[in-house]
Amino acid sequence: MPLVTSKEMFKKAYDGGYAIGAFNVNNMEIIQGITEAAKEVNAPLILQVSAGARKYANHTYLMKLIEAAIIETGLPICVHLDHGDSFELCKSCIDGGFTSVMFDGSHHPFEENIKLTKQVVDYAHDKGVTVEAELGRLAGIEDAVNVSEKDSAFTDPNEVEEFVKRTGVDSLAIAIGTSHGAFKFKGEPKLRFDILEEVQRRLPGFPIVLHGASSVIPEYVDMVNKYGGNMPGAKGVPEEMLRKAASMAVCKINIDSDLRLAMTATIRKYMAENPSHFDPRQYLSPARAAIKELVKNKIVNVLGCNGKA
Ligand code: G3H
Ligand code: 13P
Ligand code: ZN
Repeated sequence: MPLVTSKEMFKKAYDGGYAIGAFNVNNMEIIQGITEAAKEVNAPLILQVSAGARKYANHTYLMKLIEAAIIETGLPICVHLDHGDSFELCKSCIDGGFTSVMFDGSHHPFEENIKLTKQVVDYAHDKGVTVEAELGRLAGIEDAVNVSEKDSAFTDPNEVEEFVKRTGVDSLAIAIGTSHGAFKFKGEPKLRFDILEEVQRRLPGFPIVLHGASSVIPEYVDMVNKYGGNMPGAKGVPEEMLRKAASMAVCKINIDSDLRLAMTATIRKYMAENPSHFDPRQYLSPARAAIKELVKNKIVNVLGCNGKA
């Protein structure tokens, strides 16, 4: 099975009322944990690579690891650039074999976002690659995104039809209250499903993407804190909200922080319980197993894409 684009995956997901998991990958153990989980439950996958991941692990290493995962699992896998911030970066990923890219022009004014996104779409479509864009701005701080709470903004449904029509994008990320990282809500979690409903009404059949969708699993936060970490108040998106979004127009749900947290919590526990160990295989094995368990849970209990590969 060669790498696939997101096109067919999204069509089936939209019609079937489920979502595809888009998991961020940075190294071999993360790729193995995710793909082994998906194989066990026969799920299609999007593996996404940020500019930071590409800088950390190198484009070729990541591509070859993903190729190895396809040989091992036989699953339909889409390799996607997460939060591309320039035409050059998107072009480099397309030329280097990615089957999908995100151009994130959400911090630009509307007209500029359209102009820059369209430039990427023209190049990508010519090579058979799908493109995700973003309207509205999520809060959160990671390598690829750094938007303060006051600069975040919900997506305006009045803008979506014109944006999609003029850019020709294949999917659209919208801001309805999720944010990147492990600290998503100060009070009770709340998502603007009214905005999602209105976007869905205006763009019938069109795939919507949810970024910042980690649930920040409390068991892992507790484990980090028990073994020397300090993450008080970490809070993510409740799973029932994600299930609701997946049953609507949301076809792609982005998860990175949960993977980081599962890996870090497991390694902290292992090191605390085995202070004399220093073979990386000893602490990376349970970390990889934790990622596998987490991803299997997401696929079966949240995304609903098990059995859909
Ligand atoms: O949304 C951003 C992703 O979680 C990637 O984060 O840029 O730190 O690799 P990163
Ligand atoms: P989380 O930080 O919630 O995992 O979101 C990841 C993401 O949106 C990657 O683009
Ligand atoms: Zn994101």
